[in-house]
Amino acid sequence: MSFGCFAGNLENLTDVQDAANYTFVKGDIVSASDVQKVFTEFKITDVIHLAAESHVDRSIEGPMEFVMTNVVGTVNLLQAARETWKNNESHVFHHVSTDEVYGSLSDEGLFTEQTSYDPRSPYSASKASSDHFVRAYFHTYGLPVKLSNCSNNYGSHHFPEKLIPLMINNIREKKPLPVYGKGDNIRDWLWVEDHAKAIDVIFHNGEFGESYNIGGLNEWKNIDLVLFLCRLMDKKLGRNEGESEQLITYVTDRKGHDMRYAIDATKLARELGWKPSITFEVGLENTVDWYLANSEWVEQITSGAYRAYYENMYQNR
Ligand code: DAU
Repeated sequence: MSFGCFAGNLENLTDVQDAANYTFVKGDIVSASDVQKVFTEFKITDVIHLAAESHVDRSIEGPMEFVMTNVVGTVNLLQAARETWKNNESHVFHHVSTDEVYGSLSDEGLFTEQTSYDPRSPYSASKASSDHFVRAYFHTYGLPVKLSNCSNNYGSHHFPEKLIPLMINNIREKKPLPVYGKGDNIRDWLWVEDHAKAIDVIFHNGEFGESYNIGGLNEWKNIDLVLFLCRLMDKKLGRNEGESEQLITYVTDRKGHDMRYAIDATKLARELGWKPSITFEVGLENTVDWYLANSEWVEQITSGAYRAYYENMYQNR
């Protein structure tokens, strides 16, 4: 079951389009009847819930979409599962969430599963709220839920409003590289396929009612990451050393910009044996190669409404 939004793209699913157990249904999780219809028609036995508005900048511009999709949409899914599943023990409802629910770290410390929730953007507040609803359905109705909270992802097919694909594309097109504030905010980056493997292991082997943090112990200051990409791409594109760095443009900071995220994934490693499979340097190089080989995908996905949105947002910074 999949619910599309502006960042969704059916072409991302061509690898599985002929699989016997795959069906695409275009719907809106904000519509309880859309959700219930899918549960009934396809006799849904398990849910891995990744449908969300995910971009912090967009949530600052318009929080209500985030309340609707992330909170109301999640409750619609929970409710449909509750009404459909008669024997909870044979089902799983896995809610995929974010480390941003824990707030912002200073120089020291890591987010653990015991860290108190302290969301600070409309996006993270909506995800924290959806996490709370998922736990409420576990405690109140016994719904068989599992949760995971992951750090920043990177990899192929990433919608180019996020830092890494945005920088790769702008470097390729010799466009300004907008670094928010001084570029000294820190994010903890994880290859998207390692995230997918973690979801798989939690879905199959995780404990009901439990949350698992997912992260690669891979903290980077934004400006260091952008410089690393510039240097890597100068080599790949046959440019002079230092050429792409000239494109770096410091722009007005994000409102309420969280300083640092860093995940302690010890529980997931200890209890379920998961660990990241590749280093950031290897993953990043693969990612750059993918974007360079798939510029048409980028062109197609960024044309139209997204381009207008991005140009407007960039001009206002
Ligand atoms: O931590 C997990 C979260 O990571 C996910 O839950 C979110 O859905 C996902 O969007 C991501 O949130 P961030 O806000 O950390 O990701 P983003 O790629 O938007 O920004 C990463 C950092 O780069 C952040 O400190 C803001 C900065 N930035 C971002 C953009 C788009 C810039 O300096 N310039 C930019 O143009």
